Amino acid sequence: MTNADLEKIVDTSDEWIVTRTGIKERRIAPQGMAVSDMSVEACKKALEASGLKSEDIDLLILGTVTPDYKLPSTACVIQEKMELPNATAFDIVAACTGFINGLSVASSLIETGAYKNALVVGSEKLSSIVNYKDRNTCILFGDGAGAAVLTASDDDSGVVGTFLKSNGNLRDLLWIKDGGSANPYTDDYVFTGEDKISMSGGDIFKVAVKQMCNAAVKIINDAGLTSDDIALVIPHQANIRIIEAIAKRLKINMDKVFVNIEKYGNTSAASVPIALDEAYRAGKIKSGDYVLMVAFGGGLIWGSALVKW
Ligand code: ACO
Repeated sequence: MTNADLEKIVDTSDEWIVTRTGIKERRIAPQGMAVSDMSVEACKKALEASGLKSEDIDLLILGTVTPDYKLPSTACVIQEKMELPNATAFDIVAACTGFINGLSVASSLIETGAYKNALVVGSEKLSSIVNYKDRNTCILFGDGAGAAVLTASDDDSGVVGTFLKSNGNLRDLLWIKDGGSANPYTDDYVFTGEDKISMSGGDIFKVAVKQMCNAAVKIINDAGLTSDDIALVIPHQANIRIIEAIAKRLKINMDKVFVNIEKYGNTSAASVPIALDEAYRAGKIKSGDYVLMVAFGGGLIWGSALVKW
């Protein structure tokens, strides 16, 4: 879906969208394609790249806010479709930081020795919860999926550290008010848009820049490193202006920051793993590189992960 397509739906323009967000187009999954279906495509590619077999996977974590069903978890649907007989599977609801939260949980569980090989997925069909009458939000979001395999290793490569934080006081800055147990649909429910995403974009922008910087600085400092040691930053792709502001504050040149927002828009939990995958396959990550991932989303919630490749 291009900006020109959106110009036909709401009062907006390609010029406004590109200058305010950096987005030129986003992917929209067809009807009948669920989050589990997109996840399976990403999981297959990740598994193939890892050289592991489906039986080797003992942990599957999915970050999503657009599950196939309210019950069961979509991770369990993926488990069935991917034929992962030896895995335990569950979802994490952490909006745009879902992949980083999943990475943190998976690496911690692997470190305990309880699990050996984890599939961590970020996948969203945001088009199913976007209000296409609201120009403040509908221009931002797209659908997609990304996945990574984490495995136990004895060398010094791997997840150096993760940092996770949230502030539930600010939850109504980005939420879907109706349809859950707090405001369930009743027989006389009138659909007015509260069943879709609503967002106070300007307020979120400020918190996002501040807390993504804090999360990045914390993880770099905790590892005893400086910004100069970071080979590549994989930021959540929400807005090019947020990404550039963070790079400036961290004193990291934009050529060390991976950006693909123009093609996909904001895909929430899928954004970091899609970017990670594209960066890796483009040869931008070498063995021994420090890769910093940082994300921010509805909750409000934010986090970072530092990986030595
Ligand atoms: N086309 C044209 N004009 C628009 C559009 C649009 N699509 N959307 C808003 N406008 C108008 C507004 O109505 C406003 O007009 P007004 O001044 O007459 O009232 C004007 O443009 C400026 O609006 P702002 O909200 O101030 O625009 P801003 O520069 O802040 O950009 C944006 C808005 C892009 C939403 C930005 O605030 C943003 O990216 N926020 C952060 C989003 C984010 O990171 N979300 C978290 C992750 S999402 C997740 O967790 C699922």
